[in-house]
Amino acid sequence: MKVLILGSGGREHALAWKVRQSPRVSEVICAPGNGGIAEEAICVNADLKNIDAILEVANRIRPDLTVVGPELPLTLGVVDEFNRRGLRVFGPTQAAARLESSKSFAKQFMQRFKIPTAGYAVCNSAEEVKDALAHFSTPVVVKADGLAAGKSVVVAQSKEEAARVAGEMLSGKMLGSAGACVVLEEFLQGDELSFLVLSDGQRVAPLVAAQDHKRVGDGDTGPNTGGMGAYSADILLAAQMREWLLAHIARPVIEGMRAEGSEYRGILYVGLMLTPRGPMVLEFNCRFGDPETQPILMRMESDLVDAMEASIDSRVSEGDFKWSSDATACVVIASGGYPEVYEQGKKITGLSEAAKIEGVKVFHAGTSRDQSGNFYTAGGRVLGVTARARDLAMAVERAYAAVEKIHFDAMHYRKDIAARALKQKV
Ligand code: AMP
Ligand code: GLY
Repeated sequence: MKVLILGSGGREHALAWKVRQSPRVSEVICAPGNGGIAEEAICVNADLKNIDAILEVANRIRPDLTVVGPELPLTLGVVDEFNRRGLRVFGPTQAAARLESSKSFAKQFMQRFKIPTAGYAVCNSAEEVKDALAHFSTPVVVKADGLAAGKSVVVAQSKEEAARVAGEMLSGKMLGSAGACVVLEEFLQGDELSFLVLSDGQRVAPLVAAQDHKRVGDGDTGPNTGGMGAYSADILLAAQMREWLLAHIARPVIEGMRAEGSEYRGILYVGLMLTPRGPMVLEFNCRFGDPETQPILMRMESDLVDAMEASIDSRVSEGDFKWSSDATACVVIASGGYPEVYEQGKKITGLSEAAKIEGVKVFHAGTSRDQSGNFYTAGGRVLGVTARARDLAMAVERAYAAVEKIHFDAMHYRKDIAARALKQKV
């Protein structure tokens, strides 16, 4: 069968790599893809902001299955349009994707279905923010309602700062229409965990858990990014806790969405804070995480295409996935300046030496390839150097050994991926 993957990042490289391992797949096409993906799939141009352009690509390629990587086309309704035309597609509809595209929707939904999350207030004006702030203690988390590519969350240390940030969001100056409504949230403390499940609208099958590293600097310092690295190991989530998360969060979400007429199919990404009061939902994403997908898929021993088809055909069961007990770690190498302004077009060296290290796979996030096979940087997050080994310490060691082989001008990466788990002697 022929599979079309929409997207161009490290997550899509990992999806293409894993989909290609299915014995049922004869051809993988990625739109638009990147330099690294072009080594294992055919890349075709596509503007993912434009549903007509995506449909045009699908009409030309005639895939047996389309997999949507990023949130934007999902929130624009690409799945609805494909379904209308009888094209098989993996992911949630526009209405179901509101769990990610509107934070106020997600918070109100969680309140309706008693899903544990931080206390909050939805505000549509500076006046409402002022009134609501009286009920919060500091720090206060200020979130723009809509999608803003990882820039929508500010932890304000004082109420004055919270009011100012919320005001900038509401005025449209900061994030355009994504900030037309803001959510104020109680600040939570604890370890974060990314818990992903596959759903067919009724049932769920859990994936192995992962932990992301959102801040740019070592020791969780500096501004938030799309994610500077992630790891996955059994020790992250005990079986008992996984059952709790399924019973109190994942299943109630899927049942609630169904009860409200927005059946949720695809991957539901639950971003959690493990607080002393118990796990609480920070956010939902309507897709695979990036970079979590890279270490998660490296541990998957079952067929990803079968699982995605089970979601489409309403036959997901808890045993859909088989996992390796190995641990995996992914170190993101970013362009100098990222997550602020950065330069592109720097030549990347050492990729083939890195790939020779046992257990290592270098996923490309923002690269281009010239006709002679040289790679250049073409984005903020450039590479996700991912390694697998029998324990986490060894996986981390292999990933960093591979990172050391790679070079491009002004590159930077975090040196402490998984350090917290390793300190706990995992
Ligand atoms: P979100 O996009 O909602 O996941 O927020 C991005 C990041 O901001 C999260 O991964 C957390 O690190 C942080 N964050 C979000 N909400 C809260 C909260 N209520 N308390 C503490 N940190 C938060
Ligand atoms: N790594 C966070 C995300 O995919 O949203």
